[in-house]
Amino acid sequence: MHKIELLAKSHDREGFDCGSEPLNLFLKQTARQHAERGISRTFVLVDEAAAAPKPIAGFFSLNLCQIKSASLTAPEARTLPRDVAGVRLGRLAVAKASQRQGIGKTLLVAAMGKFIEIFNTAGGIGLFVDAKDQAAKRYYKQFGFVALPSNELELFLPVKTIQEALASC
Ligand SMILES: CC(C)(COP(=O)(O)OP(=O)(O)OC[C@H]1O[C@@H](n2cnc3c(N)ncnc32)[C@H](O)[C@@H]1OP(=O)(O)O)[C@@H](O)C(=O)NCCC(=O)NCCS
Repeated sequence: MHKIELLAKSHDREGFDCGSEPLNLFLKQTARQHAERGISRTFVLVDEAAAAPKPIAGFFSLNLCQIKSASLTAPEARTLPRDVAGVRLGRLAVAKASQRQGIGKTLLVAAMGKFIEIFNTAGGIGLFVDAKDQAAKRYYKQFGFVALPSNELELFLPVKTIQEALASC
């Protein structure tokens, strides 16, 4: 059965290939260092019954972020303090062999669940993501992410949309 786990030594980082070298390299070289230093956390989807090193079907990383509310779409921006906190979905990737099977969606739902844990503890207005290109932007938009007027490849998923999405899962 598939399970989301915090990235650990028992996961096969070397064998992962999503077709994007920067994302592969982040998983192989940077993700664990960032976790140790508190920069971000990376979560992987694995078969919990697999023997170590467990093949990674996909991963995402999250970090805390601060946003100028003026960069959001009205009317939200008007009613918020000048600087607000959120959570950034820094990376999202699925292994080539497992793409178009709903794993990206599973990872996004898991990221929303992690956001709610943070929201319940420390607040945060929603999830932010920098889409790497127009195709990635289209991918995120189908889940309710909205493009920010200040940067056309930066998208925002408000807490209300996240709560509604999780309630319907
Ligand atoms: C983008 C990515 C994460 C999607 O994951 P996935 O598991 O393949 O996607 P899902 O199965 O959840 O896709 C659900 C739906 O999203 C759409 N979709 C999937 N991949 C897409 C893409 N690359 N662009 C636009 N839409 C896409 C399709 O409508 C798909 O439904 P369909 O298969 O019935 O047509 C994955 O293809 C990937 O890792 N690509 C390389 C890295 C990357 O681009 N990451 C984005 C970081 S900004």
